[in-house]
Amino acid sequence: MDAPTQPRRRDVVVTDRNLALELVRVTEAAAVAASRWIGLGKKNEADGAAVEAMRKAFDTIEIDGLVVIGEGEMDEAPMLYIGEKVGKGGPAMDIAVDPLEGTTLTAKGGPNALATIALAERGNFLHAPDIYMEKIAVGGGLPEGVVDLDAPVASNLKNLAKAKKCDVSDLVACILDRDRHKDLVAKVREAGARIMLISDGDVAGVIATTMPDSLVDIYLGSGGAPEGVLSAAALRCVGGQMQGKLLYESPDQIERVRQMGHADPNRVFTCEEMAKGDVMFAATGVTSGAMLRGVKRFGAGAVTHSVVMRSKSGTVRYVEAHHNFEQKTWAPT
Ligand code: FBP
Repeated sequence: MDAPTQPRRRDVVVTDRNLALELVRVTEAAAVAASRWIGLGKKNEADGAAVEAMRKAFDTIEIDGLVVIGEGEMDEAPMLYIGEKVGKGGPAMDIAVDPLEGTTLTAKGGPNALATIALAERGNFLHAPDIYMEKIAVGGGLPEGVVDLDAPVASNLKNLAKAKKCDVSDLVACILDRDRHKDLVAKVREAGARIMLISDGDVAGVIATTMPDSLVDIYLGSGGAPEGVLSAAALRCVGGQMQGKLLYESPDQIERVRQMGHADPNRVFTCEEMAKGDVMFAATGVTSGAMLRGVKRFGAGAVTHSVVMRSKSGTVRYVEAHHNFEQKTWAPT
């Protein structure tokens, strides 16, 4: 009788279950590299270290990855630019990355800086350049359409309070602390709700709407479009509703968005339209926040805290990893 044939390494099927865990290795590498720069006032160096480490870590992942949300356009970003191919071969996947979400937070030692990635089968992420996006997001378990990006702020808050069986005055809206949000802030306060102003990091702000322990009920305002797609990917995994609309500061930006295949540049995208199909999301804390603890470095190693989620199963897995730099191929400085 012939001996049973063992699958050869290259025949092993890459499932989204093990891929999800592989992704954490990539965000861990980026977070550890960025952590070297926490509190040193050097945001570009922190970002550069995260990008380089993440790009390198992708070489070990068995996917045929295409960066659709990345560090910028090919001619302006040396690595992880939109259109770059990453991975060592395997299933065709779309990749959204933000190797360091919160560069200024990292430079100033502030909370909630993350290294993030999302993955979906090819063609399933909204393609967006590095422009602004108007966003609204709420957590899970609420009636579909409870909030609407085009509706007045006061009526969104009223509907949300009704759905949550509370008063508008019990609601907390998370908003980026920016001059462009002065009007929005005034309207939220006029409606009677409270506001948590954050200095940076709207991926963490959007995800906070889904976390029972966080104080945040709704996320409002404009931030990066890439961060919008990453947030939508996370919400697809944990539940919650989000809408986003691309914002333009020049005719060139509208043209770039049209080139990316959007016939109507003013369309409002739902969470499902920004991140379709089976989606995976991973993040590692660089600095500590409500969702994740930051990197803790010691002599020859570091401890990282990450989250990995899959929309298919709805599983949210927290991973605490103890890294020994002396035994790593990606040992950072
Ligand atoms: P960086 O990590 O690129 O600095 O982004 C931080 C961030 O706060 C994002 O979370 C947010 O989407 C964006 O900046 C907002 O942009 P701006 O600082 O121009 O208002």
